[in-house]
Amino acid sequence: MNQPVLQGVAALNVPAYLKHQRLINWVAEIAALTKPAHIVWCDGSQEEYERLCADMVAAGTLQKLNPAKRPNCFLALSDPSDVARVEDRTYICSATREQAGPTNNWIAPAEMRATLHGLFDGCMQGRTMYVVPFSMGPLGSPIAHIGVELSDSPYVAVNMRIMTRMGKAVYEVLGSDGEFVPAVHSVGAPLAAGQADVAWPCNPTKYIVHYPETREIWSYGSGYGGNALLGKKCCALRIASTMGKQEAAAGGSGWLAEHMLILGVESPEGKKHYVAAAFPSACGKTNFAMMIPPPAFNGWKVTTIGDDIAWIKPGQDGRLYAINPEAGYFGVAPGTNEQTNANCMASMRANTIFTNVALTDDGDVWWEGLTRQAPAHLIDWQGKDWTPASGSKAAHPNSRFTVAATQNPVLDPAWDDPAGVPLSAFIFGGRRSTTVPLVTQARNWTEGVYMAATMGSETTAAAAAKVGVVRRDPFAMLPFIGYNMSDYFQHWLDIGASNPAAMPKIFCVNWFRTDAEGRFVWPGFGDNMRVLKWMLDRIEGNAGGVDHLFGTSPRFDDMNWDGLPFTRAQFEQITSIDGAAWHDEVKLHDELFDKLAYHLPQALVDTRLALQSRMAA
Ligand code: OXD
Ligand code: MN
Repeated sequence: MNQPVLQGVAALNVPAYLKHQRLINWVAEIAALTKPAHIVWCDGSQEEYERLCADMVAAGTLQKLNPAKRPNCFLALSDPSDVARVEDRTYICSATREQAGPTNNWIAPAEMRATLHGLFDGCMQGRTMYVVPFSMGPLGSPIAHIGVELSDSPYVAVNMRIMTRMGKAVYEVLGSDGEFVPAVHSVGAPLAAGQADVAWPCNPTKYIVHYPETREIWSYGSGYGGNALLGKKCCALRIASTMGKQEAAAGGSGWLAEHMLILGVESPEGKKHYVAAAFPSACGKTNFAMMIPPPAFNGWKVTTIGDDIAWIKPGQDGRLYAINPEAGYFGVAPGTNEQTNANCMASMRANTIFTNVALTDDGDVWWEGLTRQAPAHLIDWQGKDWTPASGSKAAHPNSRFTVAATQNPVLDPAWDDPAGVPLSAFIFGGRRSTTVPLVTQARNWTEGVYMAATMGSETTAAAAAKVGVVRRDPFAMLPFIGYNMSDYFQHWLDIGASNPAAMPKIFCVNWFRTDAEGRFVWPGFGDNMRVLKWMLDRIEGNAGGVDHLFGTSPRFDDMNWDGLPFTRAQFEQITSIDGAAWHDEVKLHDELFDKLAYHLPQALVDTRLALQSRMAA
């Protein structure tokens, strides 16, 4: 292979096994721009992972946890300014503003390229650039895609090893000319000669940029989660959603990249269904994906394919098949405990990277909700002494764990199947203290797309924004769609129309209705199995329900209440439809549709009109 010579920066040192000249040239080009002191080509081995972790312990970026309590686990504490995805700094730089649509930030590609060129010029000085090859989806699967992230953060390199199929084997799939998504990431903190580093370098200026036409990702200034682990939100959602749509525009069947968990559910008789569910960030997707059914559902099994992202394609038989493009979970820690998610607790007993949780005096981790009573003393997520009297959170509300899927005790046997699993249902859910009932089935595909398109949710700490405000979050994709939202709605309608009889059924859920005192009425967690069971019974034609304004919901007697003292009055509290509240709700649908008027599918406008006339009647 031709080894380009870099002027005044690190030697390229391309490994002999790499046979892809275009990739090598691109790495050389980015190195010439960013000027790292060293280049490391990650091979994805355990030895490499351990070496990078040990280097980060020496540098103060990671702390090793007590091996007797959490073997092979580490804690990272970020800079307090770098704790969540930065949606207001995230851009879709398509050729025109209309292609990005009104829900995305847009800057003309040429202008953005000029800005980024200035920022990336010399931004890796004094640092090592890691070349991180990754596959989203099982290596070689027809649904999978490959990316390569160039990052000056070793924290990113080790997290990518957990979150994706990362390493040398990716180059074998890529061969000498395979396609890959080029992703460049810098924390934006060059080091002058002799300058001491900090534990969590980052930059107050942040840009998370996508160029859908060239499928490029450029991320600057943040080392945190979705801003920096570019396989996840940037590649597997924003770029991939565009790819799925482009493939349809080019005459193919098209496919979907969705913010969805995928789970398997098997009855005691051995009948198995797979469902995919979309919820906004930090609304319990990991808990739902690893759910333990209540004792009364003895013999029922729930297994996980994925907890955050689904790639979905029509199969030969017309049904939709889904894969989880990720290989690990980057879950929100607070609220996770033995009652809410025992499988998740088991997953993170070892080999886990924790970020921004609190450290106990015996070298273990703690976060709000882990135990009923907080320890008497902790080191909080900002590295400060903490006691229950401190009056602040010990763990950041968006603190995370990164853990490999293979540690999940209820991992579905088909989780790595290159063909994917056939879907029986889609579930859409938001966090709504009022208005939206516990569960509703759409009467047809268009009504389901309407439900998903008009979903609202109270915001959470996963993004750096005001928490608890209701915002419209269509398909839970508001921060993740890589093109115009109205075109995305049309893409969903088209996929449904391709084979209506084979499409999964669509449901909408809300676990979060509250009583007059603001307490959740629905117990949630394992009891969500009761809702899931009603859905499966509907799919099999075995459950009743009642039609209302916008779909079909169960009556109290249509659900299984064995072992749960839940009263008719409580059920009424979380399923009632308040006409006045719905009147206001539909006004908000109108506002959303006004905003999305360009290319808004007529079928959705008609669905809203039908809903309004039912309300008037
Ligand atoms: C996530 C998110 O990290 O949605 O999954 O923010
Ligand atoms: Mn997510």
